[in-house]
Amino acid sequence: MARILTGIQSTGTPHLGNILGAILPAIENAKAKENDSFLFIADLHSLTQIKNPEELRANTYSVAAAWLAFGLDTDKTVFYRQSDVPQCAELAWYLNCFFPYQRLKLAHSFKDKSNRLEDVNAGLFIYPMLMAADILLYDANLVPVGKDQLQHLEMARDVAARVNHKFENVFIVPEPLVRKDSMLIPGTDGEKMSKSKHNTIDIFQDQNSLKKIINKNIITDNIPLEEPKDPNGSTIFKLYQQIASKDQANEMAEQLKKGGYGWGHAKKELLNILNEQFDAPREKFNYFMNNKKELDTILESGAQKAKAVASETLNRVRNAIGY
Ligand code: TRP
Repeated sequence: MARILTGIQSTGTPHLGNILGAILPAIENAKAKENDSFLFIADLHSLTQIKNPEELRANTYSVAAAWLAFGLDTDKTVFYRQSDVPQCAELAWYLNCFFPYQRLKLAHSFKDKSNRLEDVNAGLFIYPMLMAADILLYDANLVPVGKDQLQHLEMARDVAARVNHKFENVFIVPEPLVRKDSMLIPGTDGEKMSKSKHNTIDIFQDQNSLKKIINKNIITDNIPLEEPKDPNGSTIFKLYQQIASKDQANEMAEQLKKGGYGWGHAKKELLNILNEQFDAPREKFNYFMNNKKELDTILESGAQKAKAVASETLNRVRNAIGY
């Protein structure tokens, strides 16, 4: 049995791209496999960017509520807040002392911002070691990540190997499980949906606001209603295809190709299917956001399970190092 572990950034309410690209596939995977899985909200990493307590807290809640709204099974998956397990920060310190400064300087998370060094805090610099601690603390075997996180994972493997080389086997060296980028979800402007591009669709907002976003923000060409249109060049169709059944998607493609079917029609269909699929999760999401105590209870019970594993690993590490 392999242990799968991954961390979720908590930079705000998950949007449609996060949901289709990460949340739903991960929940599907967790159901299908007999693996042991750990999933946590990386709110210590968030502190490198967010210094506002309300925002920090709100982001954690909305991420937790979203995963639960889509049916994450917390009996099968240990689901917790990173900051509830202080052992992680302790391990990160040890790892820092085993990893070369020169190599850390090459991390993208730091390098991308190094042209504005005055804005870089030391936390951002050691970000990869905190991430390594997240993984090594739980003896994880497999770590599902996007391509952008591969270098961080390489550093986690590297620091684990360095410690293992110095002392006998202290850590399990984790393997990456690269998430396919085939789930490229377009945002309202047709580019990849991403918070930083301001092109996201938030399906947790109410139906009316969602309607406005679909109708006003999604960019279409101005081919007249009567004329045939290319489904694959259309953001509306690409989104529809991700959510609708194969038959439904084929039908919309045919209509567009035939002509006499306008973008207004397509938007209406997209909105229908969004509401059909996401009304129930939205209701659950709102329920959790109105019952944060329940979220706290769920996350705390996850943290208890996580801490039990973390303490054992940390004892092993402390012993090896000489404490
Ligand atoms: N850095 C990851 C991201 O930006 C989030 C993360 C933190 C993570 N700790 C992790 C992912 C440990 C996998 C394993 O997406």
